[in-house]
Amino acid sequence: MKTVLATTAAAALALAGAVGACPEHDSDGHLEARQAKATGALAGYFDYDVYPKAQAENVTKYIAAAKAYARDDVYPYYARDCNFYSANTKLDSAGNHDGLAPATEVFKDFYFVGLSSWTAWAYDTGDGLIIYDTLASAAEAENIILPGLAKFGFTGKDIKYVFISHEHFDHYGGAKYLQDNFDPIIVASKDTWAAMEKLPATADPAPPVRNAKAITVTKDGSEITLGNVTTTMYLTPGHTNGTMSYILPVTDSQTGEKMLAGMYGGSGASSTAWSLGVQATQLVRWADLSRKKGVKAFVSNHHSRDHSLYHIEEYAHRVCDPKGRHCNFAHPWVHTPDWYYRWAMMGSYCIRAQAARGGFILSQ
Ligand SMILES: *[C@@H]1O[C@H](CO)[C@@H](O)[C@H](O)[C@H]1NC(C)=O
Ligand SMILES: *[C@@H]1O[C@H](CO)[C@@H](O)[C@H](O)[C@H]1NC(C)=O
Ligand SMILES: *[C@@H]1O[C@H](CO)[C@@H](O)[C@H](O)[C@H]1NC(C)=O
Ligand SMILES: [Zn+2]
Ligand SMILES: [Zn+2]
Repeated sequence: MKTVLATTAAAALALAGAVGACPEHDSDGHLEARQAKATGALAGYFDYDVYPKAQAENVTKYIAAAKAYARDDVYPYYARDCNFYSANTKLDSAGNHDGLAPATEVFKDFYFVGLSSWTAWAYDTGDGLIIYDTLASAAEAENIILPGLAKFGFTGKDIKYVFISHEHFDHYGGAKYLQDNFDPIIVASKDTWAAMEKLPATADPAPPVRNAKAITVTKDGSEITLGNVTTTMYLTPGHTNGTMSYILPVTDSQTGEKMLAGMYGGSGASSTAWSLGVQATQLVRWADLSRKKGVKAFVSNHHSRDHSLYHIEEYAHRVCDPKGRHCNFAHPWVHTPDWYYRWAMMGSYCIRAQAARGGFILSQ
C-alpha cells in the first residue's frame, strides 16, 4: 500500500494531481492536516485525524443535511461515508485491506469477483463477459478474477469487454494482464485514458494500452450492448476527472424481478476545491437522473460503499418460495428508487462536509 502522508493541507494540495488509489485507502491527495501521532508503546497504532482549518458550522450544516436524506434506511451508509471515512480516513482504511471474499452470483449472471478492499464485477451477457473494473494488479486479476470466473464455469477467453471506471490503480491495475492474455475491448473515458497514458513507463501496475479496438467514451449517456446487457455510461467527474458511472439492467435470480442498477464510478473525495465542487454537483445530477430512470439496485466498485461483504453473507441465507413470490427478506443490494436517490444526495452532502473539514470553499 502506498502511504504518502500529507502533513499539511498545502502538501495535500500539492499531491492533488497524482494518479494514486482512491482516497478510501490511500492518503494521496487527501484533505486532512494530521497532527496527532501515536508514539511510544502505541507507535504504529492508527491515530485520529485533526482538521485545524475546519469550518465547524459548515460541517454541522452538511452533516445534518446528509442525515436528513439518509433517514433510518440509509443510515449505515451515511454513518460510514459521512462520519467515519470522512473524518478518520486512515483508521477507516484499516478495515479495507486485501482480505479475500467468496466469488458470488449477486444477480442473475452478475458476479462479485472482488476482495475486501475493492471490487470487480463480471456480467455474463449471453454473448460473452463484461468485467467492470479489474482490481489493483496483474496478480489480483490472475488470482482473484480468473478463479472467480472459473467458479461459475467461465475462463478469461470469455471476456469480451473490460470497463474501467477511473484512473486509480485499484480499478485499472489488472486490466493490462487481461488485455495481454485475452485481448478484450477496453473501455474508459477520454480523461481516464489520458491520465493512464501520462503515467511513466515504469508505472506499477502498468495501465492497459489504448489499442485499435479500445473504446474511448466521450459522450454522456453512451451505450454499449453485448448479448442481453446494455450498459449506459455517464461522465461523472469529481473523484477524478475521468470517472465514469453506469446504469445497467439486473435480474433478481430468486424472484425474477428485473430492475436497473446504478454503479457510481467513484464517490470518494478528491482534493481540490474545484474537484470537490464538481463531485458534489455530479452526485446531485446522478441522484436526479437515476431517480428518473427508477434505479433501485446499488452496486459499487468498493465494498466500503455498497457493503457487498455484509450482503454476500446475508444473501446466502435468503430463501424464497419456488415461484419467488415470498422471500424471508429483501434482496440486500436492492432498495427503492427513493432510497437510491437519497443515498446519492446524502453522498453529495458528505462531500461538502468533508470539504468543509478541510477548510475548502467549493467552486460550485
Ligand atoms: C482536471 O480537469 C481540470 C479542468 O479541465 C483541469 O484543470 C485539471 O488539471 C485536471 N486534473 C488532472 C489531474 O488532470
Ligand atoms: C461555509 O461555506 C460557505 C459556502 O461555501 C462559505 O462562503 C463560508 O465562508 C464557509 N464558512 C466558513 C467559516 O469558512
Ligand atoms: C438472452 O436472454 C435469453 C433469456 O434469458 C436467453 O435465452 C438468450 O440466450 C440470451 N441471448 C443472448 C444473445 O444473450
Ligand atoms: Zn478505488
Ligand atoms: Zn479512486
